Amino acid sequence: MKSEDVKGILQRRMGVEHYAHSLRVELAARDLAVRYGADVERAALAGLLHDYARDLPEEQLKEMAIANNLISHPVDFLLPVLLHAPVGAYLVSRDLGILDQEILDAIARHTIGNPTMSVMEKVIFLADMIEPGRSFPGADDLRRTAEQDLDKAMLAAFDSALSYVISRGSLIHPVTVEARNNLLQQIGGR
Ligand SMILES: [Fe+2]
Ligand SMILES: [Fe+2]
Repeated sequence: MKSEDVKGILQRRMGVEHYAHSLRVELAARDLAVRYGADVERAALAGLLHDYARDLPEEQLKEMAIANNLISHPVDFLLPVLLHAPVGAYLVSRDLGILDQEILDAIARHTIGNPTMSVMEKVIFLADMIEPGRSFPGADDLRRTAEQDLDKAMLAAFDSALSYVISRGSLIHPVTVEARNNLLQQIGGR
């Protein structure tokens, strides 16, 4: 599927802001893929499509997740917006015929991460957080770390995401905690 065709489809199904974000994530994903040796064109496609289901209503996300066995944890029902990732991967395969598992996993895991993540998955997770439109506290530090070390950047990204939900008094998704614990052990911390 050509990138221009994908862009036309996205433009029709997303709001202007989310579409612009998707284009920026595509570019950030290309940069990270070059830097860390992921397949650049597939990373670009995954970046472009990562928020395919972002504009669906929460009720619909829940219904589609239940119907297609995409619930990873009971807390998913309390944080339904996060389901746009697995539902997006499902729809991209169903509607666009993209069956590249690495692309689908990267889309499916871009909101909460996963205890074992491929380079492609890390590239998309980070590209979503460091694209130039993001301005959360620590975004510039994260951009710098992402230029130096993929795993350290992932750890910083998890820390930032977890600090954010704590500061808001929100629920923590246990899969993100598990992902951070695993990564921390892999890179030699405890
Ligand atoms: Fe997203
Ligand atoms: Fe996104």
